[in-house]
Parts: sequence; structure tokens; C-alpha cells
Amino acid sequence: MSILRLSVLACCLLLPLPAALAQSNLNIAQYSTANELWYPPSLDGWIQTGASLGSEYNDKPFDAQHPGTIGVVQMEPTAYRYFMEHKAYAEGTMFLLSFYRAESKSDPQLPGFVQGALVSQEIHVLDKSRFDTGHAFFIFQKPDQQTSAAMPPGNPCVVCHVEHGKFNGTFAQFYPTLRAQLGIGK
Ligand code: HEC
Repeated sequence: MSILRLSVLACCLLLPLPAALAQSNLNIAQYSTANELWYPPSLDGWIQTGASLGSEYNDKPFDAQHPGTIGVVQMEPTAYRYFMEHKAYAEGTMFLLSFYRAESKSDPQLPGFVQGALVSQEIHVLDKSRFDTGHAFFIFQKPDQQTSAAMPPGNPCVVCHVEHGKFNGTFAQFYPTLRAQLGIGK
């Protein structure tokens, strides 16, 4: 085999490496020895991607006087930057959904609703190397809850997300900067 062919071969064998490196796990989610997710630090630095009103998971009709909670979706910053660059989620990407009470009393009094107390938080981790479906869902009910076990296999979270989420089990169609990047939704 000529030197040229050898170097072409070497070059092609080496080529996939940078791509593989670029997709290596972000490793931002930290797990306890019992495989529970630690409540992530510095959540206030996560990037807001979406917001919703009265989107709790129940069948009650929406009541404009008592809309329930305001849901705020945030994405871990390195995962967000990776997505904006590659139009894809890196392994280990984390999303947070925080539910705040929709507060009608405010000073100054406004006609609408503002964010009241934090009610609960949910986290979605995308990681094929760790979870069979590539998705894991965690609930943190109390602000002082330190760890959370993943919802068991076949949970309603993953079923709805994979079926209705427009991009890789997430509701990117409702997140303006993400859907613009993907060219989907509104
Ligand atoms: C019936 C469908 C449905 C079910 C069941 C469901 N979700 Fe969601 N989820 C949604 C929708 C719709 C959004 C977008 C919310 C928004 O725009 O604020 C969402 C957004 C999220 C997000 C933000 C990131 C993303 O993936 O888009 C997290 C985190 C999340 N849900 C966690 C959970 C957890 C935990 C459970 C189970 C306890 C669950 N969800 C069950 C419909 C569902």
C-alpha cells in the first residue's frame, strides 16, 4: 500500500474523532450512589426557553379566574449553547420546568397574573448511555428536596413527551428560540 493511500486511510479513520468528541456527554447531571439525581446547583443561571399558564397535568378545564400555575422552562447553559450551535441536543442535556403559583394580587395591581411562590419542579435529562429510552424524568416537590429518583419505566411523562414533543421528546415547539433554530412550530 502506498504512503499516499495509507495517509488517506489514516485521515479517514481519524475523521470521525472530532465529531465523536463534540458529542461526548455533558456530564452536568450528578447522581447519588443510589442513582438519584442531585438537585442541580445554580439553577438561576439556566436559560429560560419557555413559559406557560395553567398547564398542569390534569383534565380540568382552564379557569381564567384561577389559572393555576405559571410554568417556566429553563435549559442548562452548556446544553443550550450546544443546541444553538448544532441544532441537536448533546447527551446529558438537562431541562427544568418550575411551577409558580399564578398570583393575581400585585402592587401595583395589574389586570393579569405574576409569578407567586414556587410549587414544584421537574427535570428532564436526555441521556442514551444512562437511560433505556434516552429520557429520564424527575420531580422535586419541595424546595429543600436534595435528590430525586427517576420516574419508573413506562411512566406517563416519557409517553406524552415522546409522542407529542416535536423534537426528541421535548416540547421545543413551545420554546421560541429553540423552535426558530429548528424551523418548526409558530
Ligand atoms: C400529557 C402530556 C405530558 C405529560 C404526561 C408530561 N408532560 Fe412534561 N411537558 C408537557 C408539555 C406540553 C410541556 C411544555 C410546557 C411549557 O411549554 O411550559 C412539557 C414540558 C416539560 C419539561 C420541560 C422540558 C421538555 O421536555 O420540554 C419538563 C422538565 C417536563 N415537562 C417534565 C415532566 C415530568 C417530570 C412529567 C411526569 C411527572 C411530565 N413532564 C409529564 C407535556 C407533558
